[in-house]
Amino acid sequence: MSHDHGTLLITGADPLGEGHRTDLLIQDGIIRQMDEGLTAPEGARVVDAGGKVLLPGFVDPHTHLREPGREDTETIASGARAAAVGGYTAVMAMANTTPVTDTATAAEWVYDRGRETPHVDVVPVGAVTKGLLGEELAELGLMHRSRANVLMFSDDGKCVHDPLLMRRALEYVTDFGGVVAQHAQDPRLAPHTACCHEGPYSGRLGLPGWPAVAEESIIARDIMLAKAAGSRLHVCHVSTAGSVELIRWGKSMGVDVTAEATPHHLALTVAELEGYDSVYKVNPPLRAMSDVEALRAGLADGTIDVVGTDHAPHGLHDKQHDFETATFGMLGLETALSVVSSVLVAEGRMSWADVAQAMSVRPARLAGLDGHGRPIAIGEPANLTLVDPAATVVVDREDTQSLSRNNPWHGRELTGRVVATILRGRPTFLDGAVTDLGPEPTTKA
Ligand code: DOR
Ligand code: ZN
Repeated sequence: MSHDHGTLLITGADPLGEGHRTDLLIQDGIIRQMDEGLTAPEGARVVDAGGKVLLPGFVDPHTHLREPGREDTETIASGARAAAVGGYTAVMAMANTTPVTDTATAAEWVYDRGRETPHVDVVPVGAVTKGLLGEELAELGLMHRSRANVLMFSDDGKCVHDPLLMRRALEYVTDFGGVVAQHAQDPRLAPHTACCHEGPYSGRLGLPGWPAVAEESIIARDIMLAKAAGSRLHVCHVSTAGSVELIRWGKSMGVDVTAEATPHHLALTVAELEGYDSVYKVNPPLRAMSDVEALRAGLADGTIDVVGTDHAPHGLHDKQHDFETATFGMLGLETALSVVSSVLVAEGRMSWADVAQAMSVRPARLAGLDGHGRPIAIGEPANLTLVDPAATVVVDREDTQSLSRNNPWHGRELTGRVVATILRGRPTFLDGAVTDLGPEPTTKA
């Protein structure tokens, strides 16, 4: 097959922010030349990077698109456009849709819809248990062997709390190199009414509390199960200092455990709940500053492997409730880089090369995506994100590609922003706008 993606010349980019400028010539979706002073071939599109930082395209290991079932709050297409704004070239679409992605047919449906969506690669996550009910394993093998080639399985939103089912799932997916991504939260320790980090705030605000140990006890158990089974375990949205310690312990024993932190858990605390604004209601909950600090340290030293957005669009009518009955979750795709840049890079705790690891290289490896998270080098696929580290952004929830508005960053000033996103040589986001793209003239990764 021969496909013309057109030719793109990026001038004056600074790969990984190491201070060396180069031009990149991209043809047919591949980086063909990297050097100073390249000249644009006839008909080439030119993007002047102006010394901005060039990173491998971001990969989100944890996105909630709401299609099928709640297309009023997000579709695969709208989520893909939000992802492009955020610098993402691939997203893992969580299984808690309606119906749940718990069969090969359902996974293929998401996969096929994703392929029709030109702005980002959409990779379906399969459910661990049928209907996310935690009672019976879903058809893991069939989902893997399907066209969707599912490798990551998660009941996210719910914890796989039965230890025997968790053990079986870990053992089963190991046969084909899969991974179980756990939403670590013991439902017996975190009652369904829980909505606030358990501590002084929950008492004072009168909100049912969510103890750190509900998360930590499941992580400890799952590390032991993964160790016994010789399996890969991924821990979604780690939120407590104790959890970071447990991941560190698991890794020190040689267990194949990876962990994720969300932008919101890296930046916001339970103090946000003071005004009972349900935009701050999220699962797991915003915790204490000491937890935020531990997560930042864990991400900076590699104990936490990846940033995952947990982008969770919700309708106004599902959020405009009293705090206890509102839905859980917040938007994240469009702002993730700006948050990470503000709390870690601007503070001198992570380099841009570290950001490339946490937001692209490691999540791509976690998800088994060979075409993403690659080095910026000749012969590599041109999945790239251009970042302006000095730009300041005041977030406006109305300025979004998402169909939802539950944006906890609204009105906040952040430092650093994505200025362009390139998927296989085609800009998906450029000059402040999502690009109009026809269907891609090639087979996706
Ligand atoms: O806050 C959350 N929202 N946490 C989850 O685990 C699920 C997500 C959702 O689907 O809305
Ligand atoms: Zn979750």
